[in-house]
Amino acid sequence: MADQHSGGPQPGHGKDNLIPGVKYVIAVSSGKGGVGKSTVSVNLAVALSLTGAKVGLLDADIYGPNIPMMMGVSKPPEQKDGKIAPAESHGVKLISMGFFVPEETAVVWRGPMVHTAIQQLFRDVLWGELDYLLIDLPPGTGDAQLTLTQLVPLTGAVTVTTPQEVALHDVRKGMMMFQKVNVPLLGIVENMSYFLCGHCGERTEIFSHGGGERAAAKLGVPFLGRVPIDPAIRDGGDSGTPIVVADPASPQSAAFREIAQKIIAGVTGETKGVPPIESLLNKIKNPFAKA
Ligand SMILES: Nc1ncnc2c1ncn2[C@@H]1O[C@H](COP(=O)(O)OP(=O)(O)O)[C@@H](O)[C@H]1O
Ligand SMILES: [Mg+2]
Repeated sequence: MADQHSGGPQPGHGKDNLIPGVKYVIAVSSGKGGVGKSTVSVNLAVALSLTGAKVGLLDADIYGPNIPMMMGVSKPPEQKDGKIAPAESHGVKLISMGFFVPEETAVVWRGPMVHTAIQQLFRDVLWGELDYLLIDLPPGTGDAQLTLTQLVPLTGAVTVTTPQEVALHDVRKGMMMFQKVNVPLLGIVENMSYFLCGHCGERTEIFSHGGGERAAAKLGVPFLGRVPIDPAIRDGGDSGTPIVVADPASPQSAAFREIAQKIIAGVTGETKGVPPIESLLNKIKNPFAKA
């Protein structure tokens, strides 16, 4: 593995840019599995596209590629002139390792295979012009993370965590890895932050309180926001209709839109407000309509 320590080259520089039409490449990472990295990835991707941006979502979680299911895509993508045309769903272009590789095969992959596979998802896919390409990484700090920092100029990394200490410990390790290879840390999203009782409205902090915010303060990175634990969010993932589309007026969806807005502000410097709900609802009726 090439030496990628700080003081070395900027991520992706000195190599051919495999995705020249993409303005901002954002990695979504997590210290451990099951914290909602994919759930956050799909909802942020759709929330970003609802602002009028052109958005792609690359499922690079070779060991647990759930994005097609969460976005309601079951058909493998089509080929065009020897290249792969990404699937499109809820206004987002997407491609997943899961379309090409049975999960049980990828589990035994070693570094060079991971590298080649991820390289193909950039080089052989017709991503075209995009404002944002979100990349759902496998959890932790393995070969996929290193490959990514070597292959494309990453705009930054967003890290998803749950609020309790054991999860946060792994978050710090993950963020330090990105820091070491000069990838800017765009911030921390705290998922499954609290539970709002549907009957009495009481708020319960199942996994403790404020851990994500404390970790962000300690690491000196932005805290991007909290997403509650909510059966409708899980249901959105299982049914292929992310909650920002299924129930855009809900506070859960507002949380995702606000996080998306903070990410936009973080990478572009734009700080315009969250779009009014009416404009979002109009777009959702026809997600493929040209703006
Ligand atoms: N905020 C949430 N509220 C309820 N369920 C959630 C939430 N976030 C994620 N889940 C559910 O938890 C499970 C794990 O989430 P997932 O996004 O697959 O995690 P990861 O990609 O980190 O492994 C999924 O079933 C998902 O629907
Ligand atoms: Mg996942």
